[in-house]
Amino acid sequence: MTERAGADSLLLRAALASYAAGVTLVMIGDGRDDIGTTVSAFCPLSMDPPLVMVALIADSYPAEVLGRPDGPAGFAITLLAAPQRVLAGRFAAAGRPGARLLLDDVPRLRGGHSGALIPAGGLAALDCATANLIPAGDHVMVIGHVLDVPYAAESADPLIRFRGRYPPLSQ
Ligand SMILES: Cc1cc2nc3c(=O)[nH]c(=O)nc-3n(C[C@H](O)[C@H](O)[C@H](O)COP(=O)(O)O)c2cc1C
Repeated sequence: MTERAGADSLLLRAALASYAAGVTLVMIGDGRDDIGTTVSAFCPLSMDPPLVMVALIADSYPAEVLGRPDGPAGFAITLLAAPQRVLAGRFAAAGRPGARLLLDDVPRLRGGHSGALIPAGGLAALDCATANLIPAGDHVMVIGHVLDVPYAAESADPLIRFRGRYPPLSQ
């Protein structure tokens, strides 16, 4: 058990890191460029209508782009499979280049509604319209209306983040 030592925020970080979460990529095509970021704060919200949520760091570039009044209509979410760990690293790196370059060696498609890049080989992909942005502390909750499911794999292991690592699934 983690001792209650140091700042409360350290304890909170340790507590939250013990929540095992799937890892996704959130992709946005803003007309000029493609941007993307690694996101574990993903949550299915509703089936009717079909809504999902991702939480983005409020002052991150993806959040800024989605919040523009004349911003892109939507975004795509790819639920990553275990072999795509390298993509999670690429799309979390500081100062990373655009998504086109980062997916240069990866088979990919585009969301029919969002126009965003979607790497093939994930567990599933969701093409979303931006339904709502809700500020929440240092993050913004982005609600997506799922307009299409470009693919859903029948079997694949998920990429999981747990305590700052990507542990293999033991079966
Ligand atoms: C496993 C993992 C999960 C992450 N989850 C989120 C998340 O849920 N929301 C978020 O905004 N950033 C998340 N990040 C951080 C972003 O991918 C990215 O590193 C951060 O936004 C900094 O990007 P910037 O250089 O564009 O500012 C995560 C990173 C990793 C490695």
